[in-house]
Amino acid sequence: TIFTASTTAPVNIATLKYWGKRDKTLNLPTNSSISVTLAQNDLRTLTSAATSERFDEDQLWLNGKLESLESERTQHCLQDLRDLRAKLEAQNPSLPSMSKWKLHIVSENNFPTAAGLASSAAGFAALVVAISKLYQLPESASEISKIARKGSGSACRSLFGGYVAWEMGTAADGSDSKAVEVAPQDHWPEMKAAILVVSAAKKDTPSTSGMQHTVGTSDLFQERITNVVPKRFEEMKQAIWSRDFAQFAELTMRDSNSFHATCLDSYPPIFYMNDTSRQIVKLCHQINAFFDEVVVAYTFDAGPNAVLYYLQENETKVMAFIHQVFQQNSGWDSKFSKQDLEVFS
Ligand code: DP6
Repeated sequence: TIFTASTTAPVNIATLKYWGKRDKTLNLPTNSSISVTLAQNDLRTLTSAATSERFDEDQLWLNGKLESLESERTQHCLQDLRDLRAKLEAQNPSLPSMSKWKLHIVSENNFPTAAGLASSAAGFAALVVAISKLYQLPESASEISKIARKGSGSACRSLFGGYVAWEMGTAADGSDSKAVEVAPQDHWPEMKAAILVVSAAKKDTPSTSGMQHTVGTSDLFQERITNVVPKRFEEMKQAIWSRDFAQFAELTMRDSNSFHATCLDSYPPIFYMNDTSRQIVKLCHQINAFFDEVVVAYTFDAGPNAVLYYLQENETKVMAFIHQVFQQNSGWDSKFSKQDLEVFS
């Protein structure tokens, strides 16, 4: 017999950034973070897992190509899942001994590589959820998020839809470092995200080494994790609960700026944003000033691409400006041609 299970996991974009680890092997962060998960049928990874006593080795096909499952992070996740399954089998001796069998995994992203999105969050979340379904594990989503976290920190947040917090925790073994729901998507369904692709090129400093470098060399980083983020974490949850877009947007923009400031304060500095990214920042502030109301927020991860957040009712207003400036090549800066920006919304 071959047993199978499938799942999808969506991409999540942090509005309060995870940047810094207190434990590199367990992916334990130096601060709590918050994200918005994109809609299920939007940008997502679809993963199927199969197991059988007839399989000879663990195998992974990623976007149609056979890939190695050897990485320490992936092995960590598989081991944890097998341990939970073994526990379940010990309690119910009639269950098939899947914990001892090899796994075949097929995983596909539905978003173009050109979106320049780190796919590790959706990828690890889908991997861990597909196998926990296959194993029929009784653990809650928060419990399973701790396993996804070991694959990639930000992956733990893709276990939930809507508005999600990753609570950093304090335990050395990571037992309290997990994702929790702040609010479901339908609490604030008017929220929209658009990805402005500035460059589809691979980022120069991967986030894992980038954050280690910042932790080790930036003075500003200490200030951020001690005095800035803990307060902002509470304020952002409040803004989400009360659907206060102006407050949510300001906190999101400030946090993106603060994270990139610590990158710049690393020594030697790390540059993720480029001239086009900075033009987008200025433009968003100009749009908000023009309407005399906060209608759009930007945020940047470890690369030059922007993610904009806005409410559905303001989509036309925001997009009109973006197209005017970046796609018609008029008025703003003649340096930008149509090819400079691709918009996914
Ligand atoms: C800037 O989750 O990719 O996107 O834990 O080393 O896999 P690892 O890092 P990763 O880092 C994400 C960093 C970020 C901010 C965020 O998503 O919170």
